Amino acid sequence: MNIKAPRGTQDLLPGYTEKWQYVEKVLTDLCRRYDYKEIRTPIFEHTELFQRGVGDSTDIVQKEMYTFTDRGDRSITLRPEGTASVVRAFVENKMFGSANQPTKLFYFGPMFRYERPQQGRMRQFVQFGVEALGSDDPAIDAEVISLAMEAYQQLGLRSLKLVINSLGDTESRTNHRQALIDHFKPVKEELCEDCQLRLEQNPMRILDCKKDREHPAMLAAPSILDYLNEDSMAYFEKVKQYLDAMGIAYVVDKNLVRGLDYYNHTAFEIMSEAEGFGAITTLSGGGRYNGLVQDLGGPETPGIGFAFSIERLLMALEAEGVGLPIDEALDCYIISMGEETNIEAVRLTYALRKAGIQVDKDYLDKKFKAQFKAADRKRAKYVIVIGEDELTRQIVTVKQMDTGEQTEIAFKDIVDYLQEQLQGGK
Ligand code: HAM
Repeated sequence: MNIKAPRGTQDLLPGYTEKWQYVEKVLTDLCRRYDYKEIRTPIFEHTELFQRGVGDSTDIVQKEMYTFTDRGDRSITLRPEGTASVVRAFVENKMFGSANQPTKLFYFGPMFRYERPQQGRMRQFVQFGVEALGSDDPAIDAEVISLAMEAYQQLGLRSLKLVINSLGDTESRTNHRQALIDHFKPVKEELCEDCQLRLEQNPMRILDCKKDREHPAMLAAPSILDYLNEDSMAYFEKVKQYLDAMGIAYVVDKNLVRGLDYYNHTAFEIMSEAEGFGAITTLSGGGRYNGLVQDLGGPETPGIGFAFSIERLLMALEAEGVGLPIDEALDCYIISMGEETNIEAVRLTYALRKAGIQVDKDYLDKKFKAQFKAADRKRAKYVIVIGEDELTRQIVTVKQMDTGEQTEIAFKDIVDYLQEQLQGGK
């Protein structure tokens, strides 16, 4: 039987995983600078968490969740996103009680959505995300947005577009909701089946519909920005002022509504404008979710965050032709010939690795020439040769591969010698 990986998943192989490691390192370091701490939550949760957190009327909950009943008869779901889990952990672990507020968290991890796979849309993908809980200062909205933008910029992306909107507070949303119902009701029958349902459950979601995008009623739909009350308007103005202060360019898009139910006030997405990026241009999305902690059983606590997938980030880097500075060369390869020398080679490999040097050797009993070829293929910076003659004299021959220079070094000095050479950047 020829078993393949499930549709919408991928194997990350050596040569590619180095890119992931590099990206994760840059992002972790970025979070350290912004003082966000890492949180790791389970990959599966009780289904109810996402029904309540992400929202019953969203596509994610209605069509895309990997849900199953476990052997204990519980309904379990592979997490489709990270925010609901982080908020659950925040409440369950009473993180709101810590003196350090706001609670600033980041995470990496696989997410699962049963979507139609295409380039940039996977059924298992890895999200990097941040959540800041406990502050409704618009400056933290700007901080979260700046972190997202800097993540991309630091990795070398240039063709970025930041799109922001305000979804307002509850009062503004209620008024807007009514306006949408009044607006779409007369043409209900002309809308797609999903939108007819959305009109009852969550009319704002209609604005996000791909099928009805060209419908005249869609183009003339009332905008949330016209329904923001004074407080919501002032909040949005402040966020924009802070972004201006940091010199972060943005475009206001009154139709940006986001696909999850928990949002209010600030909503944003970052798009790639790189040519050849593909049909899906959204790189990341986020926003404020002031009611979510309470909805999930915690005290009234505001929150804001964003997430993006590493898959789309790497696609964007490729589309922009950005190479990552990954050193694929091996520090040292040890070549040995003969039974006796093998023992010395094993001892030396172990000693050098213990000293922090990256070392490999032959394990296929290759001839001398083939061992050199292997060292070349691995782009070894140094090759150490131990033959019968070297063994008798208790020395090794060290060859610096880029210059071809050869030196004889005593067994006892080789660790120090190589360490010095490598630190010298040779
Ligand atoms: P989202 O817009 O559903 O928001 O997803 C955020 C990002 O995850 C997307 O912009 C994209 O980079 C990536 N993504 C989503 N679905 C896929 C997929 N099928 N394949 C590849 N990448 C994908 C959220 O998940 C919210 N939790 C973001 C958030 C955090 N809001 C506040 N805090």
